[in-house]
Amino acid sequence: MLKIAIIGVGTVGSSVAQILEDNKDVITARAGCELIPAIGVVSNLKKDRNVSIKLTDDIDSVLNDESIDIVVELMGGVDKAFEVVKKALQNKKAVVTANKALLAYHRYELQELAGEMAFEYEAAVAGGIPIINALRDGLGANHILSIKGIMNGTCNYMLTKMINEGVEYDEILKESQELGYAEADPTFDVGGFDTAHKLLILASIAYGIDAKPEDILIEGIQSISGADINFAKEFNYSIKLLAIAKKVGTEIELRVHPVFIPETEMISKVDGVMNGVSVIGDKVGETMYYGPGAGGDATASAVIANIIDIARRGKGSPMLGYQIPLESNFTLASADSIETKYYLRLKVEDKSGVLAKVASILGNKDISIETMAQKPLQCNNANLLLSTHLCQEVNIKNALLELEKTGTVLETPVMIRIDS
Ligand code: HSE
Repeated sequence: MLKIAIIGVGTVGSSVAQILEDNKDVITARAGCELIPAIGVVSNLKKDRNVSIKLTDDIDSVLNDESIDIVVELMGGVDKAFEVVKKALQNKKAVVTANKALLAYHRYELQELAGEMAFEYEAAVAGGIPIINALRDGLGANHILSIKGIMNGTCNYMLTKMINEGVEYDEILKESQELGYAEADPTFDVGGFDTAHKLLILASIAYGIDAKPEDILIEGIQSISGADINFAKEFNYSIKLLAIAKKVGTEIELRVHPVFIPETEMISKVDGVMNGVSVIGDKVGETMYYGPGAGGDATASAVIANIIDIARRGKGSPMLGYQIPLESNFTLASADSIETKYYLRLKVEDKSGVLAKVASILGNKDISIETMAQKPLQCNNANLLLSTHLCQEVNIKNALLELEKTGTVLETPVMIRIDS
């Protein structure tokens, strides 16, 4: 028998306790022993939670309780969670967490602290999809060439509604908050930070690379408008917020931003609140993972998988996947070195010479236009919608600066990368 303490009994915590009860037969058989949800820790005992697990607000007594074998951290946040997890490990308890922000900032310190103790976090990335397990264990024989993931259900739900039903950004953000998909502060979702936290965790497993959210390119979906959605439809693209990790020689590109993806690609079909991750290994080729990235039961399913694993083996897998450090020392690629295709939306005056000026600024930066459409706007203005051939990010950035500086564009241009 193993006794489990659940720190944070909200949606996921209650599901963990409930599933341990509901599926006790199969879970016990798989774990090889009974897994008992012994105690839940909450900050407000007065709140009605409708759970059968015993509750307390005394976190220290739980962390110091020698009968507790496994601490499940579901409280969220970074600093307080780090202290709790640290203390649990110091007290020789195995830890399971779903906390992506904690790992985005502290995963290497936690790996040190955990040592031989089990520290597992399957639920932190893409909820119910066993992507940590796939990357750390299932694909262990491969050099990972790339990872492309749709790992934020809120953004995917919003973008899917915008493209399929023409719903406006603000309206759909409100709806996804009401449906309970969004984080408490939705900026984490729509600004790409939640996705970035998950990407950094996967990048550590794939490449042993240590980076913080501040080190990588993160763009959200806030500036996507109806004009961009119409362009996507006209040219048979879907639009997704992608987390991308890509090996380019000894450098690793890590970035989060919206991407136009040709409708023929499998990942473009991951719609609504669902998550999807494509991983290309040098030996296996492309593998694809699809499933619910959020929600109580789906996330709890991943948490319990970790608990079962710990029960079976008495310890976890090497936390970030390596028994000894990886010999190849990958470095983080600079965002300027990205090479891809781009879509640009430029608001301009609809008069002679403007298109020539735009083409000349782009041409001087070695940017070749692939498609172009002009959509009239009010007051004799127009949107120029362009897509480019492959070019370097630094050239696009400089061209956009020049377009603004010379007054050729009337508003800050919108740039969206095209999957290539
Ligand atoms: N807010 C997240 C999402 C929850 O929308 O996917 C899961 O991390």
